[in-house]
Amino acid sequence: MSKASVLITAGPTREKIDPVRFISNYSTGTFGYEIAKEARRRGWRVTLVSGPVCLKAPPGVRLIKVESAVEMARVVVRRMRAHDCLIMAAAVSDWRVRRPAASKIKRSDSGLTIELTENPDILREACRKKAGKVLVGFALETEDLEANAAKKLKAKGLDLVIANRLTDKANLFGDRRLDVVMIDRMGSKKALKGKTKRQLAKIILDKVSSFNI
Ligand code: CTP
Repeated sequence: MSKASVLITAGPTREKIDPVRFISNYSTGTFGYEIAKEARRRGWRVTLVSGPVCLKAPPGVRLIKVESAVEMARVVVRRMRAHDCLIMAAAVSDWRVRRPAASKIKRSDSGLTIELTENPDILREACRKKAGKVLVGFALETEDLEANAAKKLKAKGLDLVIANRLTDKANLFGDRRLDVVMIDRMGSKKALKGKTKRQLAKIILDKVSSFNI
């Protein structure tokens, strides 16, 4: 596969509460950016859809900045057609604020209740429009790592899932070594221990290449 094209998402999403506040998560975007870098090294065409992070896009990558999950979903669905493969490394917020306030919410003695509503599941939507694309997802689990990851692979119609366990001790965010399990659509499992995100990016893209896109 010499000139594959890959759409990669990275980083967190931000879900607005009011003009100065948001709900988000600890994602730094490192994993998605490493995958983008490695794909470029291989001469692939890369579009990187990124939530707000402090990283510089690798040279030669087309960067599309987004903020919310809804924005990310819109971009991914629109751009998917022009790519062979989608790698969803973004930590998409599962919920957004139902009615973000137009002006800054004032402090009050009665507390504050924020109503949340579900965000679109971008991978699931992508799967519906799959048409021969390779779909790669990540699974962040606190328990039953392999069983839950395999369930996600099936439910979202993925070709490959990379499963991470989140424990009290293991901080997965940022630049560190990870223990992950990679499960493919044939059910084959591979445990990868103590790998950097850069090493994992290579392994993931080798696997994507093996799907013959
Ligand atoms: N994902 C997505 N759209 C969402 C949430 C997640 O496309 N709204 C993608 C992530 O980018 C990741 C995969 O789905 O590749 C799994 O994300 P994860 O947070 O582990 O799982 P969820 O689907 O959110 O399920 P749960 O939180 O219940 O474990």
